[in-house]
Amino acid sequence: MERVSTQASAVPQVGDVVELAVGEVVHGGWCVCRENDTGWVLFVRHALPGERVLARITQSTARFARADAIEILAPSPDRVPAPCPYAGPGACGGCDWQHASLAAQRRLKAEVIAQQLRRLAGIDVDVEVEAVPGDEGGLEWRTTVSFAVGERGIAGLRRHRSRDVIEVSRCLIAHPLVTAAGVTGRRWPGWEQVEVAVAPATGERGILLWGRARPGPDDVAALPADSAQVAGRAGRRTPLRGHGYLTQHAAGRDWRVSLGGFWQVHPGAADALARAVLTAADPQPGQGALDLYCGAGLFAGLLAQAVGPAGRVVAIEENPAAVRDARHNLREWPWARVHRGDVAAVLGRTGLGEASIAVLDPPRTGLARPVIELLSRRPAGQPGLHRIAYVSCDPATLARDLRLLLDGGWRLDSLRGFDAFPMTHHVECLATLSPGVGPRM
Ligand SMILES: C[S@@+](CC[C@H](N)C(=O)[O-])C[C@H]1O[C@@H](n2cnc3c(N)ncnc32)[C@H](O)[C@@H]1O
Repeated sequence: MERVSTQASAVPQVGDVVELAVGEVVHGGWCVCRENDTGWVLFVRHALPGERVLARITQSTARFARADAIEILAPSPDRVPAPCPYAGPGACGGCDWQHASLAAQRRLKAEVIAQQLRRLAGIDVDVEVEAVPGDEGGLEWRTTVSFAVGERGIAGLRRHRSRDVIEVSRCLIAHPLVTAAGVTGRRWPGWEQVEVAVAPATGERGILLWGRARPGPDDVAALPADSAQVAGRAGRRTPLRGHGYLTQHAAGRDWRVSLGGFWQVHPGAADALARAVLTAADPQPGQGALDLYCGAGLFAGLLAQAVGPAGRVVAIEENPAAVRDARHNLREWPWARVHRGDVAAVLGRTGLGEASIAVLDPPRTGLARPVIELLSRRPAGQPGLHRIAYVSCDPATLARDLRLLLDGGWRLDSLRGFDAFPMTHHVECLATLSPGVGPRM
């Protein structure tokens, strides 16, 4: 039997249904409902700020609970019917904001960025989250999708905060070339994950199978006629078909990207970020530039073109396949060098050299502390670094790192947000910093 309570003050149990006045949005696709007298907090999904909802508790601890809104008593004007039948309480965990208009999604993401910067960096900023050019209503954009294989061997999508696999006919945010691979609803016996990556500009598609060391003849016969590989447990790849990479197009040229290597998943994002990073970093002929966490070398290539043969670009990346791609992609600019290894370790050996500009694009975990310390150690009276362009896919780690960079003598000049992941809570940010103290924004 469900217990329905009209207030969330008594700590509810999993399965209880509570009536909530939904408060502000927080990082991760949740809205928050606080009980001030107890200090207890409830995080609710599938709701929007300002709504009154009935919510079922999905997790309960002494300090907080999680819940799914199951009935909307007083809807927000931002609410829309979710286009995807698999988005909703207890269902697919891939999207967080299908029930909000796109304009509202961008507003919510901007609020989260501002909130993280205020709480973790002590900075007050007004930020706008911009649509990525070419976005078609927030659907059919995702060019890489990892489908999980469930107990019945069928590929689908994971339930929110669960290992369960939901069998789906299609994923509405997946790019049509991903959908055309026909991975969902099919049996992939023995595999754990089937990753489909596509290159919309060239129409190429690749499939990466995870979970077993070796495929059987039936596995290979069942694959669509794509470039395909198996990812072994130790990260070793076994080619099954084709050359194992895709040709992506951005900033007016082609980029080789290995299956499983990093590339922006929204077809418009690499272009939008490339333009924004060039504007932010403003590289000039003859300058030295760093591209840290360079992936396949997109930003390093743009920096190399801008600084020209009198300049120098140092790119650092630890993924061996991405390093090979970057070296291939940068081969026409011999003044751009790619170092393979952990950014902190490589910079620890080489220092910043004579770089004037650093482009940083770390994974979700943000910058390692030694990297921030090196960036902050600028010798007095020498030219040194004068611009940082920091691309981040996590506002929380960005805010943490900005605080440390500001303490290390940097000043935040601008902050932009990009809706590179519509329907989800994820967002890309670009922060531009220059030497100095105190607020400039
Ligand atoms: C967000 S991607 C950025 C890639 C590239 N800037 C782009 O836009 O295509 C982050 C990259 O950092 C690499 N990486 C993660 N941790 C690293 C580390 N500690 N040192 C060097 N590279 C790392 C990943 O392999 C990945 O290619």
